[in-house]
Parts: sequence; C-alpha cells; structure tokens
Amino acid sequence: MKSIMLTADVSIPVLGFGTWQLTGQECIDGVCAALETGYRHIDTADAYGNHAQVAEGIKNSGVARKDFFLTTKLKFPNAYTKEAVAADAQRFLEELQIDWIDLLLIHWPNREVPFAETLRAMDELKKKGIIKAIGVSNFTPHHLDDALKAGVEITNNQVEVRPTFNQKTLRDYCASKNISITAYSSLRGGDPELPLITELASKYSKTPQQIILNWITNRGMITIPKSSHPERIKENFESASFEMEEADLEKIDNLPQSDRGNDPSFGDFEY
Ligand SMILES: NC(=O)c1ccc[n+]([C@@H]2O[C@H](COP(=O)([O-])OP(=O)(O)OC[C@H]3O[C@@H](n4cnc5c(N)ncnc54)[C@H](OP(=O)(O)O)[C@@H]3O)[C@@H](O)[C@H]2O)c1
Repeated sequence: MKSIMLTADVSIPVLGFGTWQLTGQECIDGVCAALETGYRHIDTADAYGNHAQVAEGIKNSGVARKDFFLTTKLKFPNAYTKEAVAADAQRFLEELQIDWIDLLLIHWPNREVPFAETLRAMDELKKKGIIKAIGVSNFTPHHLDDALKAGVEITNNQVEVRPTFNQKTLRDYCASKNISITAYSSLRGGDPELPLITELASKYSKTPQQIILNWITNRGMITIPKSSHPERIKENFESASFEMEEADLEKIDNLPQSDRGNDPSFGDFEY
C-alpha cells in the first residue's frame, strides 16, 4: 500500500478504514475484517464512541501495534483546552489499548479556545511520544492561516471530498502549506450513481465506489471508506490496485460541483 509522509519520520497509508457510525459488534467485526483484508490504517474519533470496539477489532485481528496506523480526534467542542487535551489523550490510549496514537486531529474548529493552546498541548503529547503527528479536520484556509501561527507542525486536514465536492481550492491551499488531505464521505451524496462514474466503472471493470476511491488516491489524497459489509471492505481495499488513464481522472476532476453533504450547525465553514 502506498503511503504519504506526514512528518520527516511518520508515514500514513493512503487507504484506511473509516469507522463513523460503526458501533458494537458491527464495529468490532468491521475493524477486524479490514485488518484481515490488509488495511493498515484505522480512522476513529472520540465522538464516534467506538474506541473500545475498535480496540477489540484490532485485538481479534492479531495485527501487531507496529504494523498499523491509527487516527483519532479530539471531541468538539470541549476537548480543546490544554488540560482537556492531555487528559483525553491518556483516556484514548486506555480505551484503544495502545501506547501511542499515530495521528491526533482537532475534529472541528472551535474558535472559543485559541488554536495555539490546543496545538501546543498536542505538541507536548508529541514530544512525549503519546502521539506521532498532529492534524486538524474541517478547517478552512482561514482557520489554517490562524492555526499555523502557533508554529506547530500541522500535517493533515481531514475534510469532505467527493467528485462533486472536490475542494480544489482548499486542496491547493493545503498543498502550499505541506498539509496532506484525508478525504471523508467520498462515497456519499449519490456520486457512485453519476453517469461518468458508472461509465468508468464499466470501462475498467470496477465498481463505481472503486472508481471514486481510486480517483481520490490518484489525486494525492488519503481515503478512509467505511463499510459494515466484509465484501465491500475488500472491494474498497482493492480500489488502490489499478490505474486509470489521466484523461479519465481529469473527467472526474471536471465534474460540475455541488454543495457539501456534511454541514452541521456547529460547522464553521463560512469563516
Ligand atoms: N472528520 C470528520 O468530520 C468526518 C466526517 C465524516 C466521516 N469521517 C470519517 O470518514 C470515514 C468515511 O466517511 P463516511 O463513513 O461518511 O462515508 P463513506 O465511507 O464515503 O461511505 C460510507 C457509505 O457508503 C457505503 N459503502 C461503503 N463501501 C461501499 C461499496 N463498496 N459499495 C456500496 N456502498 C458502499 C456504506 O454502507 P455499508 O456500511 O452498508 O456498506 C455507507 O453507507 C468515516 O467512517 C469516518 O471515519 C470523518
């Protein structure tokens, strides 16, 4: 599996397994199936309430800690003070039954607590080896401009990206700041049913979902599809093992754009 360097010595596999809305046994089985399939990157969050089930799935798979990458996220909005960051990170280690977190993200921007306070607290965790890399999620260029002033290395911005919401401006901005993009909810919003996507699926003898995920990783982003079905977990994993012609990737780039799908009231996307 290809990977992207987050820092000088930390790399993230470009394909991971998303766990939003996976709970209970479904989460345990999903995480285990993903690791057995070959995924070596799991995406979770305190807000998903499934750390313990993620841990159980990992344990059941038998995959050693050094062999997988794990991302989790500070819960919006109350986990962002210096004290909360330190306490929550310790709790995450216990819940996840691991000794370090590979990538810790600020789940949503919260301008009530200065970004510098949260980021410097995360940097302390990094110095102690509790986390390996620092990132954010759902940040606009304006949030990032503010956040970067803290002087802390921000390696990743996890945001919604799909063919009809391709976030090109944000992606270009992040590239200029050496911030990688993890794309979320890429299979939602009806994009797998688009005529172009189904035509490309026929042309390459792949599924529409594989076409979308392949486009994401070919465009230099990280993808973290979620599924509760073992056959789809496998199908999504196989999206990384074929090449599309550049002209076809460009057709996807040029699809008409629509609105974001994930737009909660507490989102701060107008900033
Ligand atoms: N940072 C954030 O604020 C944020 C927000 C949203 C998501 N995320 C992360 O990103 C991950 C992915 O996003 P997501 O869960 O919203 O959406 P997604 O992975 O793009 O799509 C998931 C949906 O697509 C279906 N699906 C998956 N693979 C399929 C396939 N091969 N064929 C047909 N249907 C398929 C799933 O159904 P089944 O489960 O029934 O297969 C589910 O309904 C999340 O799990 C989470 O880890 C982060």
